[in-house]
Amino acid sequence: MKTIHRLRRTFLATALAAGALALPFAVSAQAPIVIKFSHVVAEQTPKGQGALKFKELAEKKLPGKVQVQVFPSSQLFGDAKELEALLLGDVQFIAPSLSKFDRYTKKIQVFDLPFLFDDIEAVDRFQSGPQGKALLEAMKGRGLLGLGYWHNGMKQLSTNKDKLVRPDDVKGLKFRIQASDVLEAQFRALGSNPQKMAFAEVYQALQTGVVDGQENTWSNIYSQKFHEVQKTIAETNHGVIDYMVVTNAKWWDGLPADVRKGLTEAMTEATAHANKLALDINEADRKKIADAGKAKIQKLSKDDVAAWRKSMEPVWKKFESDIGRDLIDGALKSNK
Ligand code: LMR
Repeated sequence: MKTIHRLRRTFLATALAAGALALPFAVSAQAPIVIKFSHVVAEQTPKGQGALKFKELAEKKLPGKVQVQVFPSSQLFGDAKELEALLLGDVQFIAPSLSKFDRYTKKIQVFDLPFLFDDIEAVDRFQSGPQGKALLEAMKGRGLLGLGYWHNGMKQLSTNKDKLVRPDDVKGLKFRIQASDVLEAQFRALGSNPQKMAFAEVYQALQTGVVDGQENTWSNIYSQKFHEVQKTIAETNHGVIDYMVVTNAKWWDGLPADVRKGLTEAMTEATAHANKLALDINEADRKKIADAGKAKIQKLSKDDVAAWRKSMEPVWKKFESDIGRDLIDGALKSNK
């Protein structure tokens, strides 16, 4: 026992003299800020690539000051939990699809209105304009700060049926939807049965027939292999899946100014990178799905598209007062 005490004393004395005991405090003062970035999609998707680019740029601009850890594919949190985790401080960055914020602001539902935007370029114009920029700050009172928009692409509709041309073809079918009241109303308007479900559960739900279909971008369909468990994908382009990169407003405000500046720059550059890739990734994945030959890609005539548009029209009226006519008009103006 005495020997142990003596050894401990000698160790303490030596350690103090060497300054080693001060080390843990010194390390924690200089330790990099760990930033966890959690998302639900695969790494090869536009969002997956954006998150990796952000990590690379942030660590380059702030060497030794930040360490960015990216968790793809719902590894850390699925989309049912990630917003909560961000507010609790368990992660620092997430990029949910715009459909998943309607609990925090009704205005953001504008992005879910069917057939509102003609294409992703129109979405981009709206997001970069004053109304889009204002939406990044619309949830600050709820603790969420938007740092940028990332594109994925336009949504296509898929089912486990051979025929998917007109709205009547989905009557009575069960569809997985994201947690969005607008999307729920959209499928009800079609006479289908929508079911809100986390992204990570969709493949299995399609495979086992819990649902008959879903709506998503080519990149999500391909990377999740939905085309292997669906018979037809109709090229409807009826809506958009885009993201808002959000952080915990309080955590962000508490960062040292130089770190906030570096992260803002990294985010701007990563956003440009991800948004440049999005269209190409979706086009390439559409081709891969066609080449795989598992699900048929159904092209639609102008007349077919008009029929889908008409069936979904009631959704606009239903949400107009929540969203605000000014936002809907602003979004419409972004179409050229
Ligand atoms: C979905 O849930 O279908 C998408 O929002 C997933 C994603 O993040 O792209």
